[in-house]
Amino acid sequence: MTKIVILTGAGISAESGLGTFRDAGGLWENYDLSEVATPEGFARNPALVHDFYNARRKNAAEAIPNAAHAALARLQAARPGEVLIVTQKIDDLHERAGSQAVLHMHGSITRARCAACGQTWDAPSRMRAGDQCPSCTAPATRPDIVWFGEFPYHMEAIWDALRAADLFVAIGTSGSVYPAAAFVQDAARAGAHTLELNLEPSETVTDFAEARHGRASAIVPAWVAEMLGE
Ligand code: APR
Repeated sequence: MTKIVILTGAGISAESGLGTFRDAGGLWENYDLSEVATPEGFARNPALVHDFYNARRKNAAEAIPNAAHAALARLQAARPGEVLIVTQKIDDLHERAGSQAVLHMHGSITRARCAACGQTWDAPSRMRAGDQCPSCTAPATRPDIVWFGEFPYHMEAIWDALRAADLFVAIGTSGSVYPAAAFVQDAARAGAHTLELNLEPSETVTDFAEARHGRASAIVPAWVAEMLGE
């Protein structure tokens, strides 16, 4: 039974060199999200969208998990079957740090999907508009990313875990995108203690019973050490 649900956002990978979205200089300052993170944008200009995600795939492959990722993997190893990571991140730094139970609710940069038949597979390093689906051969391949206006992955499993949680922790997320921004309320309604670990107060900080602010690579390992009684 999952006892701890941890939601992570772009802030957990910031110290691994992967940009956030809404901080100064963030991705959405340099790209029009309607062009690169919506199905309509992909339909209008698939080549632009593939270029955007090819660059993010390269950056993610070159990034190194930081002490926050490692601390969460350590907690999962110490508390087998009790710690679920729900990430808004599309990189695979949690897995490369050793985490097992990770649900990518916004998809994964390492995966590709066929818009025609729904088949998914490991994405090549560079995807191009018109690439054929290996299963149905339709020229309809896309990054396996959940775009704005699309329904996130794994929602039933996430809501089940929130209902069963004793503790909900949000790390490195601004609390500006739903349904993830409401998970703290879902968990609190189910009686869980709620903790925000973020560089600065998020948009939903007042929904949390407790909040600690600082860099993830410092405050997450400190919190895990506390959880493990060190
Ligand atoms: N340590 C901890 N927190 C940090 C750090 C750090 N080193 N650096 C930045 N942060 C915090 C910021 O203070 C901010 O609150 O991480 C948060 C990042 O917020 P966003 O850029 O909005 O990213 P996120 O919350 O993950 O966005 C949610 O929006 O664009 C969509 O699909 C995209 O998954 C993304 C979703």
